[in-house]
Formats: sequence, structure tokens, C-alpha cells
Amino acid sequence: MSNSTHPTSSFQKMSMKRKLESVFLFVTGKCNAKCAMCFYADDMDAKKQDLNFDEMKKLSETAGEFNRLWLSGGEPTLRIDLPEIVEMFYKNNKIKDVNMPTNGLMPDRVIEWISRLRKSCPNCIFTVSVSLDGFEEIHDIQRGVPGNFYKTLETLKKLDKYFGNDPMVIKNIATVVTKYNHDQIHDLMTWVYGRFNITTHTIEAARGVTREKGVKILTETSLKKLQNEVSPIYSGYAERMKTAMKGLRGKIAKIFYLGLIRTLYNVRADNIDKPTPWGMNCTAGETTLVIDYDGRFRSCELRDPIGNVRDYGCNINDMMHSEAMKKEVETIGSGYKANCWCTHGCWIISSIIFNPRKMLFKIYKGYRQAQKLYKPLNFIDETYLKTLEEKYRLDEKKLSQLF
Ligand SMILES: C[S@@+](CC[C@H](N)C(=O)[O-])C[C@H]1O[C@@H](n2cnc3c(N)ncnc32)[C@H](O)[C@@H]1O
Ligand code: SF4
Ligand code: SF4
Repeated sequence: MSNSTHPTSSFQKMSMKRKLESVFLFVTGKCNAKCAMCFYADDMDAKKQDLNFDEMKKLSETAGEFNRLWLSGGEPTLRIDLPEIVEMFYKNNKIKDVNMPTNGLMPDRVIEWISRLRKSCPNCIFTVSVSLDGFEEIHDIQRGVPGNFYKTLETLKKLDKYFGNDPMVIKNIATVVTKYNHDQIHDLMTWVYGRFNITTHTIEAARGVTREKGVKILTETSLKKLQNEVSPIYSGYAERMKTAMKGLRGKIAKIFYLGLIRTLYNVRADNIDKPTPWGMNCTAGETTLVIDYDGRFRSCELRDPIGNVRDYGCNINDMMHSEAMKKEVETIGSGYKANCWCTHGCWIISSIIFNPRKMLFKIYKGYRQAQKLYKPLNFIDETYLKTLEEKYRLDEKKLSQLF
């Protein structure tokens, strides 16, 4: 796959009319990790049955066309028929983007499935979001799995080996900031930027009801400080993107990427201590639908379930037009009557793109802020990376097998 083909993401294809755009599908309640900050621990502990393939089929057949399928769980690589499920949505719903998060414990399965899906769904962009929460010791503590860190690195290296030059596979690292890792985020992002050929690295402030209490420690002040500190690394990713795309398209992508990340991070910082109006409508329940592994459904990940797909014959169209969903959208409210705000990146981004007139200015302002925080990254050389590896006592032998 050459670098010269530029994928067209659903962001470019979408219309501003509010209709179902993103389905967040929790494909399983099973998981092979025990993360301290997991917002889904209580749901998984209930040990209900996963929706079966026939139920997924009915959901897909009744949803109509939509753009983005966000997989979640539990650990998606444990849902053994996942490739078939994605292929079905590609065929029936003409999805353009799939986001697949993973804890990175199954490197070979990720490669096998993405290779298969690239062939069977050629026009779809796959974002593989690999969770990495810290250097060796802290990552494994936060994730509750000894050895997880090196497995995750193996996943990242294999993604680079097989899809490094494939513009249809976006390689993202997702880090959740908690009491365990908040003081090493800058080092982690710097090291990852220097050692891996990934597309981007997102940080999320831990939210919701977490497995271990007391892990959410960020405040507006500490989050803003952290976001400012890591801003130059985003300029580095933006530059990589510009170089890969070339020409005017590359320049526009750089401005949009930096502006969007900064806007997202500004909205998040404003909402970490207390709810603050986003300056745009949240489109949860109009453009987004969350389906839990056991069939409960909701407008967004942070609000309570409003029904079960089984009560609607697994008909997504009926669920989206149900009285329950209408009431939910009214309750969330809009404009100056809105009464719900949060720090959830997926919904902030989804809502930004459905409020383009209000948000374009903010995106440009965000880009200017990122430019002001710019610092060259030429300090990230082999000596610096080795210093970080010593500081965090990484295993030289294991690293040498990877690099
Ligand atoms: C629920 S997990 C499912 C996918 C997979 N099991 C994993 O951990 O990557 C999806 C993403 O949510 C993140 N996450 C978990 N708990 C969180 C929390 N309390 N706040 C924000 N993100 C969280 C995970 O780290 C992961 O990046
Ligand atoms: S964050 Fe992901 S890997 Fe961790 S316990 Fe939750 S679902 Fe499992
Ligand atoms: S503001 Fe956040 S919690 Fe409220 S509806 Fe939107 S996504 Fe959900």
C-alpha cells in the first residue's frame, strides 16, 4: 500500500444534518485485564450474556447507512466473530471508519484481523487504538496484568511492521491519566513519539465510575498544565501527517488536527472540575447510539441505559425514534438550555463536527494556541530515549528484541 493514496474519512463525507452517525458497540463483556481505572468494570462484573451474532445482524439490518463504528468492551479481541461482525456492518451500513480499541494483549490476533478486514472492507479506515498507560511498572499496575507492557509494545511494533505505510490504518495510542501515571505522561509521550511510528497519541482524563476508587486526580489546573506540556508532541505528529500527505492537503490536515485536538482539550479542561457549557450542542442520542454488550442502549457512554435492544426486536431505527430516546435528547437539552456536559473525547469530537459554524473559529483559535506552545522536538535523540529507558528501568533485552 503506497503512501500516495489518501483515505477520505467519514469526517469529510458527513453531512451536517443530524442523523445517526456513530454506533458505539460494546462487542463483549469479557476482558483479560483488570484495569484500576476501568469505567466498565461494574458492567462486566454483572456477567450478562453478550449479544449474539443474529442479534448483531438484526441491528445492522435496521440501522441504515451510517459512518462510524466504534467498537468497545470488554476486550474486543476476545469477541471471536468480530471480523464477521465488522464485515456485516461494512456491507449493510456502508461504514467508512472503524475504531478498534485493544489492550494489546493479543498482538497476532490484531494483525490477523486487521489484515483480513483491510481486504474485505477496502474503503474503510481502521483506527487501531492501543491502550498504553505508562512505562513498564506503572502500566502493568494500572492494567492489573504483569507483562502487559511488553505485549503492548509488541502489538505496536507489529502494527508498524504490517501497516506502517498503510494510510487506511491509523495507529493510535490511548492513555488514561490517573493517580498512577500523571507524573510520567510527558516522558511517556516523548518516548513513544521517538520510538514508534504511530499516527497519534490521545490522552483521556479518567472519567465515570472506576473499578478502584480515588484514581481520578486531575483538576482543571493540573490538566491544563499537562495538556500544555505535551502540546509540542502534537505538533510533531501534525508535522508527520503533513509530510505523509504532502501539498495543500497536508497543510490543511495539520491545521485541522492541531486545532481539533486543542479544542477538545480546552473543552475537557473546562469540564473536569465542574460542568461548563461546551459552546456547542452535544448531539448524543441524535447522532450517536451506545449499545452495551448485553443489549442495553443509551445516548452516550456516561448516561444511564434507556432500554434494551431486545425490547425493540433489535431494530436500531425504532430505538433511535423511540419515545425513550426523544425524552433523553430533550433532557440533555441544547444551546443555552443544555444541562449536561462532560469530558468525554469521543462525544466532544462528534459534537464539534456537527456544530461547524460555532466550532470552526474555535478550531482555528486552538491551532494558534498550539503554535504558541510549539517547541522543537530535536532533543528526542537516541541518547535521550536511552536515558528515559534507564530512568524507568525498562528491560534492555526485551527492548532489543523489539527495536
Ligand atoms: C473500555 S476500553 C475497551 C477496549 C480495551 N479493553 C482497552 O482497554 O483498550 C476503551 C478505552 O477506554 C479507556 N478507559 C478505560 N477506563 C477509562 C476511564 N475511567 N476513563 C477514560 N477512559 C477509560 C481504555 O483505556 C481504552 O483506551
Ligand atoms: S480498560 Fe479495557 S482492558 Fe482494562 S479492564 Fe476495562 S475493558 Fe478491560
Ligand atoms: S455532554 Fe457528555 S454526558 Fe452529557 S449527553 Fe453529551 S456525551 Fe453524554
